[in-house]
Amino acid sequence: MDIAEPLRQGTSLIDPFGRHVSYLRVSVTDRCDFRCVYCMAEDMTFLPKKDILTLEELDRLCTAFVSRGVRKLRITGGEPLVRRDIMQLFRRLSRHLASGALEELTLTTNGSQLARYAAELADCGVKRINVSVDTLDPVKFHAITRWGDLSKVLTGLDAAAKAGLEVKINAVALKGVNEDEIDHMLVWSHERGYDLTLIETMPLGDIDGDRTDQYLPLSRVRASLMDRFTLEDIPYKTGGPARYVRVKETGGRLGFITPLTHNFCESCNRVRVTCTGTLFMCLGQEDAADLRAPLRASEGDDLLHAAIDEAIGRKPKGHDFVIDRVRAAPAVGRHMSVTGG
Ligand code: 5AD
Ligand code: SF4
Repeated sequence: MDIAEPLRQGTSLIDPFGRHVSYLRVSVTDRCDFRCVYCMAEDMTFLPKKDILTLEELDRLCTAFVSRGVRKLRITGGEPLVRRDIMQLFRRLSRHLASGALEELTLTTNGSQLARYAAELADCGVKRINVSVDTLDPVKFHAITRWGDLSKVLTGLDAAAKAGLEVKINAVALKGVNEDEIDHMLVWSHERGYDLTLIETMPLGDIDGDRTDQYLPLSRVRASLMDRFTLEDIPYKTGGPARYVRVKETGGRLGFITPLTHNFCESCNRVRVTCTGTLFMCLGQEDAADLRAPLRASEGDDLLHAAIDEAIGRKPKGHDFVIDRVRAAPAVGRHMSVTGG
């Protein structure tokens, strides 16, 4: 860690409810080379470059949080690997792994660029990655992602395996789309040594369709899986909100992320920063703090730390979004690609 930033080192970030903020998710771009139907409209307007934090600013920001006790850092997007020179950021952040200040540096990706970057990610100390794959049917894959090519993602997954990266597959459960494929995805993932996590759709941002059409409660998926598989509750925790079971027949792990049917706020240890340096204290609420102004106001990090302290001091107790079935309007106006999952 830099010698010049020590004042607050050791003063960890504790919110008003006594929760220790130890997990930071950082979106490095709002752009993506896919247009998943539940995530984006086809025609998206992205942010101008001047609004986006530079790689240097992202490094300063992450480093400030690491100096305040953040132990896990997840890089997200949009699609993080479409950001130009993104490996420079991974390379710089890897120094915190080397020093022991940071326990884990991870990535959430759509896998489209993994073939190119998997080896370098592993070399930067990344051990685990989350790859979003909602279907293994190439035609459906193209329909869900609008622009995606499944074969590229599968090649990327091979590269990840070769590089020794542990993979978790994230699949958004979509009614009438991949509902009938979940058994197959489970077996496919576990055969390859991947964990599989199923995600309920969350009402984030305007899309081109109606979300109530897509919503598939995981309680229903779970009940259906239990007709064919034995699901054993396990205490496995990754620092995220997923609840895991062990599938007896495959030996693999299956996670459920159920923001709508299950409240996981009590143990929330995380905050999120967008690529413009806006800190969201809760995924389900609009309240946010601007960290870009303090980052840009001076070369030192005092203002930044003060802004972080002020923001953590008002981290809310929890969210209460539900898909509004009458208006079918998003509960939160920003897209997932802004706050990065
Ligand atoms: N609801 C649920 N999951 C979403 N994702 C993107 N948008 C939504 C949404 N509205 C998923 C992506 C990826 C993860 C980061 O979040 O598919 O797996
Ligand atoms: Fe891109 Fe991920 Fe959104 Fe799909 S869900 S459009 S891959 S950011």
